[in-house]
Amino acid sequence: MPFQFLDSNSQFTKSFNAISKSDFYKGLTPELGYQHKIGHIQKVMLFSQIIALNENLDEGQMRILLASAAFHDSGRTKDRDNGEHGVLSAEIAGNYFKENPTNPYEIKQDEIGIVQVAIAYHVINDTIPGEVDEKIMLKLCRDYSVNETEDLEKIKQVSAIIKDADALDRARFSSKLSSRNSLDPKLLRTETAKKNSIMEFAMKINQAYAGYVLRENYPNGLIEQGDNAKALQFLRHDYKVKNGGVRKVEKDIPVRFVMSMFSEILKSLREKEKIEEDELEL
Ligand SMILES: [Fe+2]
Repeated sequence: MPFQFLDSNSQFTKSFNAISKSDFYKGLTPELGYQHKIGHIQKVMLFSQIIALNENLDEGQMRILLASAAFHDSGRTKDRDNGEHGVLSAEIAGNYFKENPTNPYEIKQDEIGIVQVAIAYHVINDTIPGEVDEKIMLKLCRDYSVNETEDLEKIKQVSAIIKDADALDRARFSSKLSSRNSLDPKLLRTETAKKNSIMEFAMKINQAYAGYVLRENYPNGLIEQGDNAKALQFLRHDYKVKNGGVRKVEKDIPVRFVMSMFSEILKSLREKEKIEEDELEL
């Protein structure tokens, strides 16, 4: 693999494999569909990693970022809630790391609280759009017993990246740049996420990912040329309506396929001049 973070012994790969193999995102209910399942988590981890590469995180922040991205939606019981899943996901992550002092995410006991803060913050609306709210952050640090004084800026940076990475996966809803209201750069927090090339990358990943899911699970579905994400949304909904509200149990995409797709798309983008103009590190 030409990208170091995709190497088999990298922290990204270890965390990615661990969450992909886990049961945290397996459950489906009428209220909780595929929008926030492992595919979303895998993409948010990838976008987090790419943003982090461009924002100079230290090694500890990287581990915390990847673990937080991995668990950020683990407490969801609905695709739409009022943000309750922030605290619930933080609790699930906390329990997991307390019970597993040795873990593939390499989170140490004194880092658990920071992972929880980042997860809890991901559902909070910034008071000033595009800026992590320091007051709320300080409160969360107290809630999760984090001694914030020395590390506040680092914790804020990790939280900002998770929120931006999560937002970048909203590009899954369409192939059209113009309709991605939720990706208004003014609402994003990091300079990297605001770059056109990372948005383009996110769209490509989303389209390719949706293509895999379609081929594996809806081989007979009519696919509108060029918009896999929309077609997938339609076919999932259609299946549910025709089956009394029960969702189709989809096959997961094997992790090695996901990783090689990431690598292919990164490679194709790296070859384009746009990345250089935009000064995005891939
Ligand atoms: Fe999410």
